[in-house]
Amino acid sequence: MKGLFITLEGVDGAGKSTHMKWLPDFFREMGQEIVITREPGGTPLGEQLREILLHQPMTQETEALLMFASRQENINQLIKPALSSGKWVLCDRFTDSTYAYQGGGRHFSNDKIARLESWVQEGLNPDLTLLFDVPLAVSRERLGKHESQDRFEQENDAFFEAVRSVYFERARRDPKRFIVVDSTLPFEQVRIGLEAGLLEFIGQHK
Ligand code: TYD
Repeated sequence: MKGLFITLEGVDGAGKSTHMKWLPDFFREMGQEIVITREPGGTPLGEQLREILLHQPMTQETEALLMFASRQENINQLIKPALSSGKWVLCDRFTDSTYAYQGGGRHFSNDKIARLESWVQEGLNPDLTLLFDVPLAVSRERLGKHESQDRFEQENDAFFEAVRSVYFERARRDPKRFIVVDSTLPFEQVRIGLEAGLLEFIGQHK
């Protein structure tokens, strides 16, 4: 028995967290057991790495390695055990974030990311990825309401344009895995559209 591995992605301020609030119950109502996690983070060590990643200056190499160190813990402690017992995993960000932020935003080598990905994940990939998309102006608007910004949120427009375009490119190349959500729409409209997309995806995977 194997559960579904579902990831949520998008630029900061795209509304991932808002939708993370209702998604678990939506799946539970279908009778699924849900494990919720996030990256960087999810495990005790992963959460410590998250603090460091979001606030300490470091080289690009260290940043990529720590993202995958956190991922390694998350996969082995949470994700794999949950999936193999038939639970569904909802993960707030995963390796698409590394391609988008480290690869796109920081211009870190895609080849190195791919090598870390195959080393750490050993073929484990999301079954479904929800990509919440908003234009830069909207995410800036929403982030502006935040008090303190972390190392990523402080990046400039070019960084976020690059992040967003890597996400689009990955969704374009792998349309079966991605549901791209226009997150500029009002919350309720996004939720209704997403529910329909999820039911269709799940129907095809039964
Ligand atoms: P997030 O949880 O969305 O932050 P918040 O709780 O403030 O909404 O993500 C934390 C940050 O980590 C986000 O700016 C993107 C970054 N990140 C990467 O750069 N690479 C990665 O591989 C991951 C998983 C996250």
